[in-house]
Amino acid sequence: MYQEINLDKIDMNAEPPAEEPARQYYFMAKCREWVREFEQKNGRRPTAFIQTFGCQMNARDSEKLRGILLRAGYEEGRDETADFVLYNTCTVRDNANQKVYGRLGHLQTLKKKNPGMGIALCGCMMQEAAVVERIQKTYPFVDLIFGTHNIYKLAELLYRCQTEKEMVVDVWDSAKEAVEDLPATRKYPFKSGVNIMYGCNNFCSYCIVPYVRGRERSREPEEILAEIRRLAEDGVKEVMLLGQNVNSYGKNLARPMTFAELLRQVNEVKGIERIRFMTSHPKDLSDDLIRAMQECKKVCRHLHLPLQSGSSRILEIMNRRYTKEQYLDLTERIRRAIPDISLTTDIIVGFPGETEADFEETLDVVRKVRYDSAFTFIYSKRTGTVAASMEGQVPEEVVKDRFDRLLCEVQQIAAKVCGRDAGSTRMVLVECENDHQQGYVSGRLGNNLLVHFPGDASLIGKIVPVKLLESKGFYYIGKMEEAEDRR
Ligand code: 5AD
Ligand code: SF4
Repeated sequence: MYQEINLDKIDMNAEPPAEEPARQYYFMAKCREWVREFEQKNGRRPTAFIQTFGCQMNARDSEKLRGILLRAGYEEGRDETADFVLYNTCTVRDNANQKVYGRLGHLQTLKKKNPGMGIALCGCMMQEAAVVERIQKTYPFVDLIFGTHNIYKLAELLYRCQTEKEMVVDVWDSAKEAVEDLPATRKYPFKSGVNIMYGCNNFCSYCIVPYVRGRERSREPEEILAEIRRLAEDGVKEVMLLGQNVNSYGKNLARPMTFAELLRQVNEVKGIERIRFMTSHPKDLSDDLIRAMQECKKVCRHLHLPLQSGSSRILEIMNRRYTKEQYLDLTERIRRAIPDISLTTDIIVGFPGETEADFEETLDVVRKVRYDSAFTFIYSKRTGTVAASMEGQVPEEVVKDRFDRLLCEVQQIAAKVCGRDAGSTRMVLVECENDHQQGYVSGRLGNNLLVHFPGDASLIGKIVPVKLLESKGFYYIGKMEEAEDRR
């Protein structure tokens, strides 16, 4: 179980321990020595800045990386002028990669001004051999490259960077061991992601994730529950259970269990008031999960259910393992069981071979399901995936036209659907002060929609009743109700 190791009690003259996480605490202590020397020379501590690209998994990984850097003695930097800059990258679509390459040029300029600066890259993009090769050749000023399977080793790798001149590259093909008991610094004190599983076995034909995140591995339920209890004690009110496909949670455990069972157990944890999860694959969303969502009062009435395409023909080539009819039937069953649920989705436009008729099927599903919101993506060819070598890549202008039509449809529907709760009073978890309007705070409804209302910083982290006065399409303007109105 989790046990923080006191860095002051570590024998720095001893050899580094072989076992984890003791080894990483040893290197955190080593890094701290280096930081002290830096401080003596420069009159200040070095700063570290992490830029996260991509999904919730990466966001959670970055909290772990930040935790390690702070324990190693670094101060939190505000931007890329920091002494240590780490990009936690995404490679799900090519534009995510291009963003990183673009910003590396900027980092080079900054490093010329601050030659002691450390530049590190980690995450999904680094799991691709061609990317690492390109960085080694074209961006030799990068100091450290590591992947998705060894983020827990940051302290050890950082220490090597501090003491060696050469670029350090450490990328693993697969996960060797799951090392969890390391410090993490949450972005928000009141909510946190919790990994329940890693990797993916689905191999959708367009998707690079199974190649960069490895095979599916579930964490033991006891470990997950212990982590959530600890978070609750530390003031966390909302947890987001994270996995590439939470519906296959537990299948590979020594004592198999289902995601629905896990959800019921998390629902019992005292102090946790809201539970979310991401992502749920439509192919194996069970009736028991729908029942568990119905029963568990803390589980938010929100389901992200990626559609990808509304054409059964394209779904088959995508290897999604459901048809348009099965998807529609599933959403109907969910709506029948939980009428106030908000459904959101992901859709890809321009998959190889997609015809106008296929695209019309996607529009048809969008009109039938009426999503609260949808993330729409232009298909991006990813090297190594099955779809990358498929015939019939759709011409760019056709894809662009379909994308615009889809977006228009999605937005029109969402504006109507999202406004349905106007006039009612709902509970809102307050997240921050509003950047744009002084004297306002912003928070989220159970269905994840934003609400802005008059209030001050003392409300941050609290769940309060707010009357939703006006719907602005994708957010509400509200007014906090008195406590006695709470319901
Ligand atoms: N091209 C475009 N979109 C993609 N996604 C995953 N792979 C690709 C790709 N090659 C989208 C899917 C997925 C979301 C996280 O990213 O819609 O659900
Ligand atoms: Fe997340 Fe996938 Fe992007 Fe990795 S490649 S950051 S798992 S979306």
